[in-house]
Amino acid sequence: MMSFGDHQLYLLFLLLVKFHESVGVDVIFTQEPSNPSYFNKGSDANLVWNYADPHNKIAAIAYSVLVNGEFKTMIFNNSHGVQEHSSIPPSYKGRVKIEGRATLVIKNINTGDNTKFRCEMWKSPSGQVESTVQLIVAEALLMNLSLGGKYFTEGSNATLSCKASGKPPPYVSWIRNGVLESSGKEAASLEFNNINRTDAGQYTCQANNSMEVTSINTTIVVHYTFPIVLVLEWQDL
Ligand SMILES: *[C@@H]1O[C@H](CO)[C@@H](O)[C@H](O)[C@H]1NC(C)=O
Ligand SMILES: *[C@@H]1O[C@H](CO)[C@@H](O)[C@H](O)[C@H]1NC(C)=O
Ligand SMILES: *[C@@H]1O[C@H](CO)[C@@H](O)[C@H](O)[C@H]1NC(C)=O
Ligand SMILES: *[C@@H]1O[C@H](CO)[C@@H](O)[C@H](O)[C@H]1NC(C)=O
Ligand SMILES: *[C@@H]1O[C@H](CO)[C@@H](O)[C@H](O)[C@H]1NC(C)=O
Ligand SMILES: *[C@@H]1O[C@H](CO)[C@@H](O)[C@H](O)[C@H]1NC(C)=O
Repeated sequence: MMSFGDHQLYLLFLLLVKFHESVGVDVIFTQEPSNPSYFNKGSDANLVWNYADPHNKIAAIAYSVLVNGEFKTMIFNNSHGVQEHSSIPPSYKGRVKIEGRATLVIKNINTGDNTKFRCEMWKSPSGQVESTVQLIVAEALLMNLSLGGKYFTEGSNATLSCKASGKPPPYVSWIRNGVLESSGKEAASLEFNNINRTDAGQYTCQANNSMEVTSINTTIVVHYTFPIVLVLEWQDL
């Protein structure tokens, strides 16, 4: 004789979960572009969305752009296929298309595209689900090395700092002979307390982000004095 124990309760729980999944799940995004999304000037931006629509509730998928504080529909896809919307801003005419399930392609990215893009899934009979991303046009990495002079005297304290700017904001590291000496976000400094002749040599400051890696080499020179050795000979005395 079986009792209504923990095992049965667990099965009942699983059934309830399944029931909830089949009824409760409506239109949802299963993939959204990273936010923000970075693209190089002149490249084509691919904003990839994907979705689940278990009950075929989607009537249309529309893509809009934020222009002067307002989202303007550019292009949409419904049962009649893909069409440009009448409110598409002139700068996007002929420059946007839809690929795959819900990928918005914006051709030939320029600085005017530093704005938000939205994918809206219009449901039947009503309602909508939307997802918005900020597009950022990547900017080349620029680096500055500030040296308190490249020449140091042994025993002194020295600081070398390296800064980098760009979009996305870079990570900066100081490397010597392949070994990471220090690092930081947008700046890194190399500090020597009591600099030694063994610290002399080539150092590389590297800046990197998801789009680019760039570096600057610098050489540190450490001056030191030779110990003075007096050789006295009997003849001189
Ligand atoms: C248009 O939307 C339907 C779903 O409503 C989808 O199956 C189809 O792949 C979409 N076509 C394009 C080109 O986006
Ligand atoms: C170098 O820095 C250390 C620790 O910060 C300090 O004790 C020392 O006096 C400094 N030396 C010189 C030459 O400034
Ligand atoms: C590099 O230095 C120049 C001149 O001092 C300055 O205009 C620029 O903003 C600096 N760039 C970085 C990345 O710090
Ligand atoms: C430099 O480093 C070497 C090896 O670590 C050490 O023998 C020497 O005393 C140091 N020189 C000074 C001036 O600190
Ligand atoms: C930059 O380089 C560092 C060190 O090699 C690495 O840990 C980091 O993931 C890189 N960052 C990006 C955005 O590529
Ligand atoms: C820095 O030096 C290394 C070799 O020491 C070289 O491979 C690299 O190209 C140099 N980088 C720059 C930016 O000059």
